[in-house]
Amino acid sequence: MKRIAVLTSGGDSQGMNAAIRAVVEQGHHLGIEVYGVYYGFKGLVEGDFKKLTVADCQDNIKRGGTFLYSARYPEFKEVENQKKALEQMKKHQIEALVAIGGDGSFMGALQLANFGFPVIGIPCTIDNDIPGTEYTIGFDSAMNIAMEEIDKISDTAASHNRSFVIEVMGRHAGDLAIWAGVATGADSIAIPEVKMDMKDIVRRVHAGRQAGKDHSIIVLAEGVMSADQFVEEFLTYAPDEDIRGVTLAHVQRGGNPTARDRVFATLMGARAVDLLVQGEHGIYMGVIGERLETFDIIDTLRNKKHNVRRELYELNQDLTDKTLA
Ligand code: F6P
Repeated sequence: MKRIAVLTSGGDSQGMNAAIRAVVEQGHHLGIEVYGVYYGFKGLVEGDFKKLTVADCQDNIKRGGTFLYSARYPEFKEVENQKKALEQMKKHQIEALVAIGGDGSFMGALQLANFGFPVIGIPCTIDNDIPGTEYTIGFDSAMNIAMEEIDKISDTAASHNRSFVIEVMGRHAGDLAIWAGVATGADSIAIPEVKMDMKDIVRRVHAGRQAGKDHSIIVLAEGVMSADQFVEEFLTYAPDEDIRGVTLAHVQRGGNPTARDRVFATLMGARAVDLLVQGEHGIYMGVIGERLETFDIIDTLRNKKHNVRRELYELNQDLTDKTLA
């Protein structure tokens, strides 16, 4: 194998740059040229390629975002565009592609794999919602940001004896809400996977106050509803409660990646190149019990679902339910 390409696509995540850097450095180590594709699958269709050097990647390991830029590009579902991407890669003599991103990017990779083109995916999304793997790059950084922000909010909440609902990202998955909620001892967590019961949340807030708590924190996944909607609905059940809503939004997707995200991005990027050289493709990388694993793209994306750590959610709800105390 002489030349491969790498792209980042979909919502960015911390650790994408670390993954690109590992692909480029490992390629260099094995004598393979690595081309960067700018703006994800859009750039693949348009031939927006540039040969990357190790100097292009210097110090990228510590930076958030993606220096290859990213784009949401639903048009890649069209077979015409998939064929154009294949033509571009043929024209540039690119023999394989490393696709870095979330579920949308993996669908793009799957479409290329369906044509028999060699692709390997690296899961990078703060949502942690890729089937098969227990962990996606960016999740650790985003979760720690959410935790730090909630810690700050709880200081001011306590001073004023207020309740706060903090909306974290996660359109379809409650992982960020669960982990940030458990890490901050939130009074309640609301996730898309469990039907929300506002009466019960209000009951839990009141029970906490009766047990002597001076403030309450509710962590809400964006997939349930917005913080503003939550406050409105909450006040219909508890009109006297002083409650505020905060939406963390894109602050969770920026900043330097944590050590965990950098290390796993590096492991995955290097392994992806090794596997391509060994003739393996049509797979994506993942982590099970701290070890790297690979998953068949077509089979896993079609037949498996991502599951949140429901027991963590339930544990937090049990620990913070003060009614029985
Ligand atoms: O990439 C995942 C994610 O951050 C989701 O948590 C969120 O719903 C979405 O992207 C936001 O997308 P955008 O940045 O395109 O508004």
